[in-house]
Amino acid sequence: MTKFVFAVTGASGHLGRLAVQELLARGVPSSDVVAVARSRGKVADLAERGVNVHVADYTRPDTLRTALVGVNRLLLVSSSEAGQRLAQHTNVIAAAKAAGVSRIAYTGILNADHTTNPLAGEHQETERALREAGVPFIALRNGWYTENYTDRLEQYVEGGEIVGAAGRGRISAASRQDYAVAAVAAILQDSEGNRTYELGGQSFDLFELAETITKLTGNNVKYRDLSIDKYRDALQQSGLDENAAEFVAAIDASIARGDLETSSQDLEALLGHPATSLADVIGEARHHHV
Ligand SMILES: NC(=O)c1ccc[n+]([C@@H]2O[C@H](COP(=O)([O-])OP(=O)(O)OC[C@H]3O[C@@H](n4cnc5c(N)ncnc54)[C@H](OP(=O)(O)O)[C@@H]3O)[C@@H](O)[C@H]2O)c1
Repeated sequence: MTKFVFAVTGASGHLGRLAVQELLARGVPSSDVVAVARSRGKVADLAERGVNVHVADYTRPDTLRTALVGVNRLLLVSSSEAGQRLAQHTNVIAAAKAAGVSRIAYTGILNADHTTNPLAGEHQETERALREAGVPFIALRNGWYTENYTDRLEQYVEGGEIVGAAGRGRISAASRQDYAVAAVAAILQDSEGNRTYELGGQSFDLFELAETITKLTGNNVKYRDLSIDKYRDALQQSGLDENAAEFVAAIDASIARGDLETSSQDLEALLGHPATSLADVIGEARHHHV
């Protein structure tokens, strides 16, 4: 079997860390795994398991070039610094190309070809940058994390409601763990050429989310659906500034238009089994949040 060196950026973050752990779980020797992070401290546990830690910052091309020397396959986990991301990702892609990386998997956004999600622009531009770079790539178009909601379980249960403006828009969310497992499955494959995966789990709307929480916790939680204008006002009253409130409301408007729904079975195919159910992710969150 050909031996590859795998690198994962954002290894100090939630998704990157899970991807590194999954590479090890799939039997890749830790000496063939590179965790790219801004600081060693946050990934000390991975270093203890024998993973190579390379320190690099997306804003510093010199650090990226050094970090990616000897890497064959790279999982580029999109940056969390919205607004700066295209420049940052372009730096990573250029460094990967210079280092001779033979395949880059990038965590983008679901339905990138036609979505109106306000976060989509940088993901679409990054996919364009990948195409232009000419390095074979895998677009992992991730749907919403179920944790975007379950991280607020305590708040929902205490307040007795979920407030939003997503209407009956369906969300094909999945857990970070499932996206990480799928990303690793994709990057371990030896197929040639570029690939695009539209990744999402079993869909739900926010009414169903509230019903499922009610059923599982025994606490009555209702979904209160507002108009976009009323939701923006409510967000401002809860302390968000005007721009942030506008942004969050625009995300729900995009959900209402169906941008975060997919019928694609790509996630299930990469996992080799159905994605973790909403009920199971809520169950997991209950241990941590309620
Ligand atoms: N699909 C969704 O629902 C959803 C939700 C949230 C985010 N996302 C996207 O998915 C990505 C991964 O999600 P996550 O939950 O793992 O996010 P996360 O926990 O916030 O991790 C983000 C990672 O990006 C790293 N990073 C940020 N700026 C960097 C820079 N200048 N140089 C090097 N590394 C940098 C962070 O490093 P530090 O630890 O040093 O800060 C961290 O490791 C996010 O970054 C975001 O693009 C998707």
